Amino acid sequence: MYDYANKTVFVSGGTSGINLGIAHAFAQAGARVVVMSRKQDKVDAAVAALKAHGGEAFGHAADVRDYAAVEAAFKDTATRFGAIDVLVSGAAGNFPAPAVGISPNGFKSVVDIDLLGTFHVVRAAFPYLAKPGASVINISAPQAWIPMDFQMHVCAAKAGVDMVTRVAALEWGAAGIRVNSIAPGPIEGTEGMRRLAPNERANQLITDSVPLGCYGTTDDIAQAALWLSSPLARYVTGVVLAVDGGWSLGGVSAMSMGLKKAMTGG
Ligand code: NAP
Ligand code: COA
Repeated sequence: MYDYANKTVFVSGGTSGINLGIAHAFAQAGARVVVMSRKQDKVDAAVAALKAHGGEAFGHAADVRDYAAVEAAFKDTATRFGAIDVLVSGAAGNFPAPAVGISPNGFKSVVDIDLLGTFHVVRAAFPYLAKPGASVINISAPQAWIPMDFQMHVCAAKAGVDMVTRVAALEWGAAGIRVNSIAPGPIEGTEGMRRLAPNERANQLITDSVPLGCYGTTDDIAQAALWLSSPLARYVTGVVLAVDGGWSLGGVSAMSMGLKKAMTGG
Protein backbone atom coordinates (compact mmCIF):
# COMPACT_ATOMS: atom_id res chain seq x y z
CA MET A 1 0.00 0.00 0.00
CA TYR A 2 1.24 3.54 -0.78
CA ASP A 3 2.38 5.40 2.33
CA TYR A 4 0.33 8.56 2.96
CA ALA A 5 2.42 9.76 5.95
CA ASN A 6 2.71 13.57 5.97
CA LYS A 7 -0.11 13.88 3.44
CA THR A 8 -3.25 15.88 4.18
CA VAL A 9 -6.58 14.43 3.08
CA PHE A 10 -9.88 16.35 3.20
CA VAL A 11 -13.16 14.44 2.82
CA SER A 12 -16.44 16.34 2.47
CA GLY A 13 -19.30 14.22 3.74
CA GLY A 14 -16.62 12.13 5.44
CA THR A 15 -18.56 11.34 8.59
CA SER A 16 -20.49 8.24 7.54
CA GLY A 17 -20.80 5.46 4.98
CA ILE A 18 -18.59 5.33 1.92
CA ASN A 19 -16.84 8.63 2.59
CA LEU A 20 -16.00 7.70 6.18
CA GLY A 21 -14.62 4.42 4.83
CA ILE A 22 -12.37 6.44 2.52
CA ALA A 23 -11.28 8.66 5.43
CA HIS A 24 -10.42 5.57 7.51
CA ALA A 25 -8.36 4.04 4.71
CA PHE A 26 -6.27 7.20 4.31
CA ALA A 27 -5.85 7.50 8.11
CA GLN A 28 -4.71 3.87 8.23
CA ALA A 29 -2.21 4.65 5.48
CA GLY A 30 -0.71 7.41 7.66
CA ALA A 31 -2.45 10.55 6.43
CA ARG A 32 -3.70 13.52 8.42
CA VAL A 33 -7.43 13.50 7.77
CA VAL A 34 -10.05 16.26 7.87
CA VAL A 35 -13.76 15.51 7.55
CA MET A 36 -16.64 17.91 7.03
CA SER A 37 -20.40 17.43 7.26
CA ARG A 38 -23.45 19.23 8.65
CA LYS A 39 -23.94 17.55 12.00
CA GLN A 40 -21.49 18.29 14.82
CA ASP A 41 -22.18 14.97 16.59
CA LYS A 42 -21.34 12.99 13.44
CA VAL A 43 -18.20 15.08 12.93
CA ASP A 44 -17.07 14.48 16.53
CA ALA A 45 -17.69 10.72 16.33
CA ALA A 46 -15.85 10.41 13.02
CA VAL A 47 -12.84 12.40 14.25
CA ALA A 48 -12.58 10.24 17.39
CA ALA A 49 -12.71 7.05 15.30
CA LEU A 50 -10.13 8.38 12.83
CA LYS A 51 -7.72 9.38 15.61
CA ALA A 52 -7.77 5.77 16.81
CA HIS A 53 -5.46 4.95 13.88
CA GLY A 54 -2.78 6.96 15.69
CA GLY A 55 -2.53 10.00 13.42
CA GLU A 56 -3.97 13.50 13.39
CA ALA A 57 -7.57 14.22 12.48
CA PHE A 58 -10.06 16.98 12.91
CA GLY A 59 -13.43 17.99 11.55
CA HIS A 60 -15.69 20.85 10.55
CA ALA A 61 -19.44 21.10 10.84
CA ALA A 62 -20.46 22.83 7.62
CA ASP A 63 -23.06 22.51 4.90
CA VAL A 64 -21.58 22.20 1.40
CA ARG A 65 -24.37 24.48 0.17
CA ASP A 66 -22.82 27.34 2.17
CA TYR A 67 -19.80 28.53 0.16
CA ALA A 68 -18.42 30.78 2.90
CA ALA A 69 -18.51 27.92 5.43
CA VAL A 70 -16.76 25.58 2.98
CA GLU A 71 -14.10 28.19 2.26
CA ALA A 72 -13.53 28.72 6.00
CA ALA A 73 -13.03 24.96 6.49
CA PHE A 74 -10.28 24.87 3.85
CA LYS A 75 -8.59 27.95 5.24
CA ASP A 76 -8.52 26.38 8.70
CA THR A 77 -7.26 23.08 7.28
CA ALA A 78 -4.38 24.81 5.50
CA THR A 79 -3.46 26.72 8.66
CA ARG A 80 -3.27 23.52 10.69
CA PHE A 81 -1.98 20.99 8.17
CA GLY A 82 -0.62 22.91 5.15
CA ALA A 83 -1.50 22.14 1.55
CA ILE A 84 -4.17 19.55 0.80
CA ASP A 85 -2.80 16.51 -1.06
CA VAL A 86 -6.07 14.61 -1.50
CA LEU A 87 -9.53 16.13 -1.72
CA VAL A 88 -12.60 13.89 -1.76
CA SER A 89 -15.96 15.52 -2.44
CA GLY A 90 -18.54 13.02 -1.27
CA ALA A 91 -21.36 14.90 0.47
CA ALA A 92 -24.67 14.02 -1.15
CA GLY A 93 -28.35 13.52 -0.55
CA ASN A 94 -30.78 11.04 -2.04
CA PHE A 95 -34.33 9.82 -1.73
CA PRO A 96 -36.26 7.64 -4.15
CA ALA A 97 -39.29 9.29 -5.73
CA PRO A 98 -40.93 9.37 -9.18
CA ALA A 99 -40.37 12.62 -11.07
CA VAL A 100 -43.90 13.83 -10.34
CA GLY A 101 -43.34 13.08 -6.65
CA ILE A 102 -40.29 15.35 -6.46
CA SER A 103 -41.17 18.94 -5.55
CA PRO A 104 -39.10 21.76 -7.04
CA ASN A 105 -37.49 22.17 -3.63
CA GLY A 106 -36.76 18.43 -3.40
CA PHE A 107 -35.02 18.51 -6.79
CA LYS A 108 -33.16 21.67 -5.81
CA SER A 109 -32.02 20.19 -2.47
CA VAL A 110 -30.31 17.23 -4.12
CA VAL A 111 -28.79 19.30 -6.93
CA ASP A 112 -27.60 21.89 -4.41
CA ILE A 113 -25.92 19.30 -2.18
CA ASP A 114 -24.47 17.03 -4.87
CA LEU A 115 -23.65 19.33 -7.78
CA LEU A 116 -23.43 22.87 -6.43
CA GLY A 117 -21.85 21.43 -3.27
CA THR A 118 -19.18 19.64 -5.33
CA PHE A 119 -18.48 22.85 -7.23
CA HIS A 120 -18.21 24.72 -3.91
CA VAL A 121 -15.80 22.13 -2.52
CA VAL A 122 -13.45 21.93 -5.49
CA ARG A 123 -13.61 25.68 -6.18
CA ALA A 124 -12.95 26.72 -2.57
CA ALA A 125 -10.21 24.09 -2.15
CA PHE A 126 -8.23 25.12 -5.23
CA PRO A 127 -5.98 27.75 -3.56
CA TYR A 128 -5.08 25.21 -0.86
CA LEU A 129 -4.38 22.18 -3.08
CA ALA A 130 -0.80 20.92 -3.39
CA LYS A 131 0.57 22.10 -6.72
CA PRO A 132 1.86 19.95 -8.25
CA GLY A 133 0.63 16.64 -6.94
CA ALA A 134 -2.91 17.01 -5.57
CA SER A 135 -5.55 14.39 -6.32
CA VAL A 136 -9.20 15.41 -6.37
CA ILE A 137 -11.87 12.71 -6.30
CA ASN A 138 -15.54 13.50 -6.73
CA ILE A 139 -17.93 10.76 -5.62
CA SER A 140 -20.35 10.13 -8.45
CA ALA A 141 -22.74 7.22 -9.11
CA PRO A 142 -23.73 5.07 -12.11
CA GLN A 143 -26.91 7.22 -12.21
CA ALA A 144 -24.66 9.84 -13.84
CA TRP A 145 -24.78 7.98 -17.15
CA ILE A 146 -27.53 5.35 -16.71
CA PRO A 147 -31.03 6.79 -16.28
CA MET A 148 -32.72 5.17 -13.28
CA ASP A 149 -36.35 5.18 -12.19
CA PHE A 150 -37.12 7.37 -9.15
CA GLN A 151 -33.73 9.07 -9.45
CA MET A 152 -34.27 12.03 -11.84
CA HIS A 153 -32.76 14.50 -9.34
CA VAL A 154 -29.76 12.29 -8.55
CA CYS A 155 -29.14 11.37 -12.22
CA ALA A 156 -29.12 15.06 -13.15
CA ALA A 157 -26.91 16.05 -10.22
CA LYS A 158 -24.33 13.27 -10.61
CA ALA A 159 -24.10 13.80 -14.40
CA GLY A 160 -23.17 17.37 -13.52
CA VAL A 161 -20.65 16.19 -10.94
CA ASP A 162 -18.82 14.20 -13.64
CA MET A 163 -18.67 17.29 -15.85
CA VAL A 164 -17.20 19.26 -12.94
CA THR A 165 -14.58 16.49 -12.78
CA ARG A 166 -13.78 16.63 -16.48
CA VAL A 167 -13.58 20.41 -16.79
CA ALA A 168 -11.45 20.71 -13.64
CA ALA A 169 -9.15 17.98 -15.00
CA LEU A 170 -8.73 20.00 -18.20
CA GLU A 171 -8.10 23.30 -16.48
CA TRP A 172 -5.97 22.11 -13.57
CA GLY A 173 -3.74 19.58 -15.34
CA ALA A 174 -1.18 22.32 -15.98
CA ALA A 175 -0.95 22.91 -12.22
CA GLY A 176 -0.20 19.22 -11.70
CA ILE A 177 -3.60 18.48 -10.18
CA ARG A 178 -5.45 15.31 -11.21
CA VAL A 179 -9.24 15.24 -10.95
CA ASN A 180 -11.29 12.05 -11.22
CA SER A 181 -14.67 10.66 -10.22
CA ILE A 182 -15.35 7.35 -8.52
CA ALA A 183 -18.82 5.92 -9.18
CA PRO A 184 -19.65 3.30 -6.55
CA GLY A 185 -22.19 0.61 -7.31
CA PRO A 186 -24.52 -0.68 -4.58
CA ILE A 187 -22.49 -0.66 -1.35
CA GLU A 188 -23.62 -2.73 1.62
CA GLY A 189 -24.53 -1.17 4.94
CA THR A 190 -24.84 2.39 3.62
CA GLU A 191 -27.53 5.03 4.02
CA GLY A 192 -27.78 5.23 0.24
CA MET A 193 -28.75 1.58 -0.07
CA ARG A 194 -31.05 1.72 2.97
CA ARG A 195 -32.99 4.33 1.02
CA LEU A 196 -32.87 2.71 -2.44
CA ALA A 197 -33.33 -0.92 -1.38
CA PRO A 198 -35.36 -0.78 1.82
CA ASN A 199 -36.30 -4.47 1.97
CA GLU A 200 -34.86 -7.94 1.42
CA ARG A 201 -36.62 -8.40 -1.92
CA ALA A 202 -35.13 -5.22 -3.34
CA ASN A 203 -31.71 -6.27 -2.02
CA GLN A 204 -31.99 -9.63 -3.77
CA LEU A 205 -33.11 -8.04 -7.05
CA ILE A 206 -30.17 -5.66 -6.95
CA THR A 207 -27.70 -8.42 -6.09
CA ASP A 208 -29.04 -10.48 -9.00
CA SER A 209 -28.49 -7.56 -11.36
CA VAL A 210 -24.79 -7.12 -10.48
CA PRO A 211 -22.54 -9.22 -12.76
CA LEU A 212 -20.20 -10.02 -9.84
CA GLY A 213 -23.29 -11.16 -7.91
CA CYS A 214 -22.85 -9.21 -4.68
CA TYR A 215 -22.90 -5.81 -3.06
CA GLY A 216 -19.63 -3.90 -2.78
CA THR A 217 -18.08 -2.76 0.49
CA THR A 218 -16.96 0.67 1.62
CA ASP A 219 -13.41 -0.71 1.51
CA ASP A 220 -13.79 -1.53 -2.21
CA ILE A 221 -14.32 2.19 -2.79
CA ALA A 222 -11.61 3.24 -0.34
CA GLN A 223 -9.01 1.06 -2.07
CA ALA A 224 -9.87 2.69 -5.41
CA ALA A 225 -9.43 6.13 -3.80
CA LEU A 226 -6.04 5.14 -2.34
CA TRP A 227 -4.82 3.94 -5.72
CA LEU A 228 -6.23 6.88 -7.65
CA SER A 229 -4.49 9.36 -5.31
CA SER A 230 -1.14 7.58 -5.39
CA PRO A 231 1.75 8.01 -7.84
CA LEU A 232 0.68 4.68 -9.35
CA ALA A 233 -2.14 6.63 -11.03
CA ARG A 234 0.03 9.62 -11.99
CA TYR A 235 -1.21 9.62 -15.61
CA VAL A 236 -4.91 9.17 -14.79
CA THR A 237 -7.08 12.27 -14.87
CA GLY A 238 -10.58 13.18 -16.02
CA VAL A 239 -11.95 9.65 -15.72
CA VAL A 240 -15.10 8.33 -14.09
CA LEU A 241 -14.02 5.08 -12.46
CA ALA A 242 -16.95 2.73 -11.91
CA VAL A 243 -16.38 0.50 -8.88
CA ASP A 244 -19.68 -1.25 -9.22
CA GLY A 245 -19.17 -4.98 -9.81
CA GLY A 246 -20.23 -4.35 -13.40
CA TRP A 247 -23.69 -3.13 -12.33
CA SER A 248 -23.81 -0.29 -14.85
CA LEU A 249 -22.98 -2.67 -17.73
CA GLY A 250 -26.55 -3.93 -17.52
CA GLY A 251 -27.84 -0.44 -18.25
CA VAL A 252 -31.29 0.86 -17.47
CA SER A 253 -33.00 -2.48 -16.92
CA ALA A 254 -30.42 -3.84 -14.49
CA MET A 255 -30.13 -0.69 -12.42
CA SER A 256 -33.83 0.05 -12.15
CA MET A 257 -34.92 -3.55 -11.59
CA GLY A 258 -34.71 -3.73 -7.82
CA LEU A 259 -35.75 -0.18 -7.13
CA LYS A 260 -38.73 -0.07 -9.48
CA LYS A 261 -40.12 -3.40 -8.30
CA ALA A 262 -39.59 -2.47 -4.65
CA MET A 263 -41.33 0.87 -5.10
CA THR A 264 -44.24 -0.26 -7.25
CA GLY A 265 -44.75 -3.71 -5.81
CA GLY A 266 -44.41 -4.96 -9.41
P1 NAP B 1 -24.16 8.77 3.79
O1 NAP B 1 -23.60 7.86 4.82
O2 NAP B 1 -25.49 9.40 4.04
O3 NAP B 1 -23.08 9.91 3.51
C1 NAP B 1 -23.40 11.22 3.17
C2 NAP B 1 -22.47 12.13 3.91
O4 NAP B 1 -22.65 13.47 3.44
C3 NAP B 1 -22.69 12.16 5.41
O5 NAP B 1 -21.45 12.30 6.05
C4 NAP B 1 -23.53 13.43 5.62
O6 NAP B 1 -23.34 13.89 6.97
C5 NAP B 1 -22.93 14.33 4.54
N1 NAP B 1 -23.83 15.37 4.04
C6 NAP B 1 -25.09 15.25 3.56
N2 NAP B 1 -25.57 16.43 3.19
C7 NAP B 1 -24.58 17.34 3.42
C8 NAP B 1 -24.47 18.72 3.24
N3 NAP B 1 -25.48 19.45 2.74
N4 NAP B 1 -23.30 19.33 3.59
C9 NAP B 1 -22.28 18.62 4.11
N5 NAP B 1 -22.33 17.30 4.30
C10 NAP B 1 -23.47 16.66 3.96
O7 NAP B 1 -24.29 8.08 2.37
P2 NAP B 1 -23.52 6.96 1.51
O8 NAP B 1 -24.57 6.03 1.03
O9 NAP B 1 -22.32 6.42 2.17
O10 NAP B 1 -23.08 7.84 0.22
C11 NAP B 1 -21.84 8.50 0.17
C12 NAP B 1 -21.52 8.95 -1.24
O11 NAP B 1 -21.49 7.82 -2.13
C13 NAP B 1 -22.54 9.91 -1.82
O12 NAP B 1 -21.86 10.84 -2.66
C14 NAP B 1 -23.43 9.01 -2.66
O13 NAP B 1 -24.10 9.71 -3.70
C15 NAP B 1 -22.39 8.04 -3.21
N6 NAP B 1 -22.92 6.75 -3.66
C16 NAP B 1 -23.40 5.87 -2.73
C17 NAP B 1 -23.82 4.60 -3.14
C18 NAP B 1 -24.27 3.59 -2.13
O14 NAP B 1 -24.42 2.41 -2.45
N7 NAP B 1 -24.50 3.97 -0.89
C19 NAP B 1 -23.79 4.26 -4.50
C20 NAP B 1 -23.34 5.21 -5.43
C21 NAP B 1 -22.88 6.45 -4.99
P3 NAP B 1 -24.32 14.95 7.70
O15 NAP B 1 -25.65 14.31 7.78
O16 NAP B 1 -23.64 15.22 9.02
O17 NAP B 1 -24.32 16.17 6.85
N1 COA C 1 -39.75 12.01 -1.31
C1 COA C 1 -40.09 13.17 -1.89
N2 COA C 1 -39.61 14.38 -1.48
C2 COA C 1 -38.77 14.38 -0.43
C3 COA C 1 -38.38 13.19 0.22
C4 COA C 1 -38.90 11.96 -0.26
N3 COA C 1 -38.58 10.78 0.30
N4 COA C 1 -37.52 13.53 1.21
C5 COA C 1 -37.40 14.87 1.19
N5 COA C 1 -38.14 15.39 0.19
C6 COA C 1 -38.32 16.79 -0.13
C7 COA C 1 -38.95 17.56 1.04
O1 COA C 1 -40.36 17.34 1.09
C8 COA C 1 -38.57 18.98 0.69
O2 COA C 1 -39.41 19.51 -0.33
P1 COA C 1 -40.64 20.56 0.02
O3 COA C 1 -40.01 21.72 0.73
O4 COA C 1 -41.19 20.90 -1.31
O5 COA C 1 -41.59 19.79 0.89
C9 COA C 1 -37.21 18.83 0.06
O6 COA C 1 -37.08 17.44 -0.32
C10 COA C 1 -36.08 19.18 0.99
O7 COA C 1 -36.26 18.45 2.19
P2 COA C 1 -35.50 18.85 3.52
O8 COA C 1 -35.68 17.73 4.49
O9 COA C 1 -35.89 20.23 3.93
O10 COA C 1 -34.00 18.94 2.96
P3 COA C 1 -32.62 18.92 3.65
O11 COA C 1 -31.79 19.85 2.91
O12 COA C 1 -32.75 19.06 5.13
O13 COA C 1 -32.16 17.39 3.39
C11 COA C 1 -32.29 15.52 1.86
C12 COA C 1 -31.77 16.94 2.13
C13 COA C 1 -33.77 15.58 1.57
C14 COA C 1 -31.55 14.98 0.64
C15 COA C 1 -32.11 14.59 3.10
O14 COA C 1 -32.62 13.32 2.82
C16 COA C 1 -30.66 14.46 3.55
O15 COA C 1 -30.19 15.27 4.33
N6 COA C 1 -29.91 13.45 3.06
C17 COA C 1 -28.50 13.23 3.43
C18 COA C 1 -28.17 11.77 3.60
C19 COA C 1 -28.44 10.94 2.38
O16 COA C 1 -29.34 11.22 1.60
N7 COA C 1 -27.67 9.87 2.23
C20 COA C 1 -27.81 8.97 1.12
C21 COA C 1 -26.63 8.94 0.24
S1 COA C 1 -26.40 10.26 -0.74
